[in-house]
Amino acid sequence: GPYYLAALAFGYLLGSIPFGVILTRIAGLGDIRRIGSGNIGATNVLRSGRKGLAALTLLGDALKGTAAVLLANRYFGVDISLVAGFGAFLGHLFPVWLKFRGGKGVATYLGVLLGFHWQAALAFAAIWIAVAFATRYSSLSALVASLATPLLLYFVFREPQLTEMMALLTALLWVKHAGNIRRLLSGKESRIGSKG
Ligand code: G3P
Repeated sequence: GPYYLAALAFGYLLGSIPFGVILTRIAGLGDIRRIGSGNIGATNVLRSGRKGLAALTLLGDALKGTAAVLLANRYFGVDISLVAGFGAFLGHLFPVWLKFRGGKGVATYLGVLLGFHWQAALAFAAIWIAVAFATRYSSLSALVASLATPLLLYFVFREPQLTEMMALLTALLWVKHAGNIRRLLSGKESRIGSKG
């Protein structure tokens, strides 16, 4: 119905705010899409050497997803909030403002998940941190954490509906990491803290 479309549009608009682009521009760093991997996310903002800006990018890109979910849930219930969360993720990946060339979705994935299930979000963050600590690969950490999340949601947290939705987000996140996967397999992926 019309509520689903409105929720999709609402989520999309929130999700399409590119915090990495905005914050680095305000800080006078120019266009983040010309730095490092060219991605608009926190990992690449970190390559500019500005840890605080990277942290703010992570926070903004995550919390826009959380906000979309919580606001939609509060006013329209859980079914609509699933659509709003999906919309926010799509907005981050394909923002109209950036000619639909957006980010890879890691922070927004975490933020959307946080809006639905904080324990699962904590698990995602813990897995990301563990893999990052062991390998120093941001992309690999996200790939592993996003693969584990639907499994945890289904088998541990027993949330079949949320499993379906997050599995869809995982698939999109993996597609957006195609270049990273290629570089990981050929040993050319840059590690966290290196300029890449
Ligand atoms: O947060 C996105 C991360 O998984 C990869 O980013 O800039 O290394 O391609 P990047």
